[in-house]
Amino acid sequence: MKSFLNILKWTGAVLGILILVLVVFVNIRGNRTYELPLPDLVASSDSAVIARGKYLAFGPAHCVSCHMPMDKFTDVENGLELPLSGGWELNIPPGSFRAPNLTPDMETGIGSFSDGHIARALRYSVRHNGKALFPFMPFQNMSDADVIALISFLRSQPPVKNELKTTKLSFLGKAVSAFGILEPEGPITTPPVSVEIDSTIAYGEYVANAVANCKGCHSLRDLKTGAYIGVDFAGGMPMESDPMIKGLSFITPNITPHMTDGVMAKWDEATFINRFRAGRVYEGSPMPWGAFSRMSDIELKAVYRYLQSLEPVPGKVDKTVVREGATS
Ligand code: HEC
Ligand code: HEC
Repeated sequence: MKSFLNILKWTGAVLGILILVLVVFVNIRGNRTYELPLPDLVASSDSAVIARGKYLAFGPAHCVSCHMPMDKFTDVENGLELPLSGGWELNIPPGSFRAPNLTPDMETGIGSFSDGHIARALRYSVRHNGKALFPFMPFQNMSDADVIALISFLRSQPPVKNELKTTKLSFLGKAVSAFGILEPEGPITTPPVSVEIDSTIAYGEYVANAVANCKGCHSLRDLKTGAYIGVDFAGGMPMESDPMIKGLSFITPNITPHMTDGVMAKWDEATFINRFRAGRVYEGSPMPWGAFSRMSDIELKAVYRYLQSLEPVPGKVDKTVVREGATS
């Protein structure tokens, strides 16, 4: 009996030490910094470049849908162009994530970051302080010209002092980083220097994949790692509603041109453009409809033509809006 108690005591002690080592390991490694290159992209004061950046931020690249105080959501959705002073937050198991202030304020915004810091955040998912960014911003493959346009626009805004709480990772969030399950994402290949803006399939492909994130939401992904596990653009990705509106969850529809299973296969170009101009139908839909309603005709045509050029993929998503508490 005594030796049994001894074994128990020792096992307990060893387990305790192992847990302690794990906790220390996760807390140190989960907070590590990354040495990734600062892209050599420099902001411009050219008004056409700034205008392009503003268009991207309030339109297809929808920076505005997160880097904005949450109580301004409706005004911004309806077209009010406020400085991107940050504020959206999301509390999920890996942590509490907050979209920071992107106005040029020296203390609370990007005033003290270099152009390279901002470019690196977009292209290599690393913060100005070298810490990993969680995958909220799929802009790694954006062209040099568009990254420069965005930085130039951010710098042109009036500085707004808006002190926000910073992102806080939970133990799980740190563990995911510590064990390398989540590494900062970089571009697939060297991003283009610039892409010609035209209503072509090539430009549509660029917008749908590298700017507006149609692919990121309309493809099935592993919820823990973000890896693509379904066919691109065939939908089926489950999503919670926007943090402000509870009670609805969503599953993205198939947007490939499959005649019976694709939600827009039978739409002509005008129907597609009108749907985007009309904006949000479901309150709480994670799709940034307000920002997308400001996309230009040229850009919408390009996206339409690209999506219609894809291989039709079977697999109908019957219900894209799910009311929580409903039995079917
Ligand atoms: C889906 C929401 C979302 C969208 C859209 C979004 N961001 Fe972010 N952004 C965040 C969050 C959340 C963080 C902080 C993430 C973290 O702490 O891991 C962040 C962080 C950043 C940072 C890092 C700042 C630092 O501390 O170094 C920059 C720069 C940035 N965003 C710029 C942009 C730009 C430019 C756009 C549009 C092209 C954009 N974001 C679109 C949510 C978003
Ligand atoms: C942040 C996630 C997200 C992004 C980004 C996104 N979508 Fe969606 N999309 C959804 C969800 C969720 C729905 C279903 C709810 C709804 O209709 O709002 C949806 C619905 C749709 C519909 C069906 C609308 C209808 O009236 O039946 C189309 C078409 C569509 N998306 C196309 C696109 C295109 C094209 C892009 C890129 C320009 C895009 N989506 C980007 C999440 C997203």
